[in-house]
Amino acid sequence: MIAFDYTNVLESAVGSHGIPEPSFAAATGAAQRAIDAVEIAHKTGKLGFANLPLAAKPVQDVLRFAKEHAFRNIVILGIGGSALGPAALESALSKPNASRRLVVLDNIDPDFIKDSLDALNPAETFVNVIAKSGVTAETMATFAVVRKWMNDALGPARTRERFAVTTDPEKGDLLAIAREEKFPIFEIPPNVGGRFSILTPVGTLPAALIGLDVEALMRGAAQAAEQSRQPFAQNPALTAAFVQWILDHQFRKSILVLFPYSQALWKFAFWFKQLWGESLGKKLDRRGREVHCGQTPTAALGVTDQHSQLQLFIEGPNDKSFLFWAVREFRETLPIVHPYRSYDSMAYLENRTVADLFDAERQATEMAITQAGRPNSTIYVDRVDAETLGELIVFSQYMTAYAGEFYDVDAFDQPGVEYGKKLTFCLMDRPGFEEYRPRIETERRKTRKIVR
Ligand code: PA5
Repeated sequence: MIAFDYTNVLESAVGSHGIPEPSFAAATGAAQRAIDAVEIAHKTGKLGFANLPLAAKPVQDVLRFAKEHAFRNIVILGIGGSALGPAALESALSKPNASRRLVVLDNIDPDFIKDSLDALNPAETFVNVIAKSGVTAETMATFAVVRKWMNDALGPARTRERFAVTTDPEKGDLLAIAREEKFPIFEIPPNVGGRFSILTPVGTLPAALIGLDVEALMRGAAQAAEQSRQPFAQNPALTAAFVQWILDHQFRKSILVLFPYSQALWKFAFWFKQLWGESLGKKLDRRGREVHCGQTPTAALGVTDQHSQLQLFIEGPNDKSFLFWAVREFRETLPIVHPYRSYDSMAYLENRTVADLFDAERQATEMAITQAGRPNSTIYVDRVDAETLGELIVFSQYMTAYAGEFYDVDAFDQPGVEYGKKLTFCLMDRPGFEEYRPRIETERRKTRKIVR
């Protein structure tokens, strides 16, 4: 099970930048109210993410579909919550030499799309178009490009067999197109928002198509959901949420550095960045007051970033909270064996393992950051596999939902993102978005200050 170690966020560890221990006891009432609010939202159907691990049918559906669709390349067309989840699953659980690979075409840099398609054989490729709203400009544009690419190579009949769509079951143009084309349709429940949708077919279908153990993923998710409903003192997700909220709110740690000591969890950090940033970065609280809250999530990779960002972390501004992800057991320990005992820089490594060194470096970084008075905490997972990843996903979702309660914001909307989408539609002359034209013209009238 997941364990959350918050020793180093305490005043006793990092002095005036740390939380006095009595603050935890004082927060018991608020913490229980957060549990109750999230539970009621689930029970009344307003929120859906925690019910997903218990829904067997959608999992059986994707597994059956994957059995019948064995392709070397699985291409995903989607962005944000419709891409970061599957990318995180693949990067954590698939090996570089796997026989099936996932290609995520989220960005619409035209060179990136062209180069990616040039590297694929359409005959060996299956495409999953993913969009909750069913209208996102980036996804609809790449869908058009990839459909033509496939159609030119394989013809219309075979092309029709190479697409599946994952979208809202009730609305959106993508749903209508999928019905028209008779593409298989996988549903994202309406009460599960984009960045909370990794355990819907958004994540599980691509995972199944590349052969990952979706049932184990859901097993871990169900365990974490159970753990995340426990009272404050036995609830790591709630404690982690409270720690980040109070560090931001009272100790001005407005930046959250996600620091996995695991290559496998690197893309998971990017998934978490969206979850934390988009859910909590809000102009208004639930009472309509202007608060402009939310920590800025950023990522550092252990050990790579020890040789890059760590100097700034230790001696730069003390405006950050650090969240390490530590793995107790790696699949390999990699013994260090060599004939260079006469060299000091090599001798001490003899008969140790790369896993020993990795862990020593994680501990050293944690100590250095702590001794510099910077609050940090650690999430421990037993290992990285489908089950523990399921745990980590639901832990993170609950942590975010609980943080939304502490900040008193709606963690499940994204008005800033929607506004950007509307401006894009207007810039691209999509009918119905003309009202944004004056604001665009105002921006365009500005005299640009450019140095050449
Ligand atoms: O979390 C969200 O709702 C957003 O970030 C979406 O995931 C993102 O904008 C993509 O939206 P859609 O799935 O509708 O294409």
